[in-house]
Amino acid sequence: MTDRYAVFGHPIAHSQSPRIHTLFAEQTGQDMRYQAILAPLDGFGASVQAFIAAGGRGANVTVPFKEEACRLAARLSEPARAAGAVNTLVFDENGIFGDNTDGAGIVRDIRHNLRHEIAGKNVLLLGAGGAARGTVLPLLRENPAQLIIANRTAQKARLLADRFASASASLPAAIAVDPPRLRGCGLTDLAGRRFDIVINATSAGLSDTPLDISDDVFAPNCLAYEMVYGRQTSFMAQARKANAQVSDGLGMLVEQAAAAFYLWRGVQPDTAPVLKALRGA
Ligand code: ATR
Repeated sequence: MTDRYAVFGHPIAHSQSPRIHTLFAEQTGQDMRYQAILAPLDGFGASVQAFIAAGGRGANVTVPFKEEACRLAARLSEPARAAGAVNTLVFDENGIFGDNTDGAGIVRDIRHNLRHEIAGKNVLLLGAGGAARGTVLPLLRENPAQLIIANRTAQKARLLADRFASASASLPAAIAVDPPRLRGCGLTDLAGRRFDIVINATSAGLSDTPLDISDDVFAPNCLAYEMVYGRQTSFMAQARKANAQVSDGLGMLVEQAAAAFYLWRGVQPDTAPVLKALRGA
């Protein structure tokens, strides 16, 4: 019987996930079907349970259900627990397992596709919401010289940095999350600072509101990474003007999908042709 998978979200019509996973399945010869499911805003849990009852083997979860998916899972991976959010569910005889592959996705896109090392670099993460939260631990694992989390509401960035610093006891010794290496601040506290990698994890790009950051944050040869995809944001325009190498978040989307696919099927798909197909579309 063909194994069933789905992505749950609201809205969901424009999700690229069915296309990505269908291409992965074709490429690797996996017998599976992947669909998009619009869950009611007050009915995510019931939708998932109905899917499991109908034979669903796993699912992706997108906005606005990632935190709820975290509560729904009986067991969580370390990245999911650290992020407080789940983008991948596995349904098996042990119940519901929740993982978060978003952070692994952006790290792989930056290192493998865009060929920028994170180790030893000064990294700036803009934003302190759900998208930023899922990225902190995977970035720290890459051993940057510094990870600064900067947010419009400075206090939220400080709290996020403190949360990971206080959780550092449970991290491998190599990730020393001492205050100089991991710090939270406001966007306006960045004056005079330069970074090798700048990641926009705010939702400003969705409303095309400019971010209140100086062009100076982009060091020479900087990679400016916008998590949003499918549109040119003002962050991308500003970074381009400041001579940074600019990327949108499409590669992250494909890489987080590949990590979920591997979790479900035990097979690693080749992301390059899929990313190329999506870019051509
Ligand atoms: P997500 O889950 O996508 O991260 P979120 O939890 O609502 O969404 O967080 C949105 C993030 O974008 C926040 O960090 C928010 O900053 P505040 O905490 O100050 O609200 C940030 N953000 C949204 N619009 C912004 C703007 N115009 N300028 C700067 N930051 C913005």
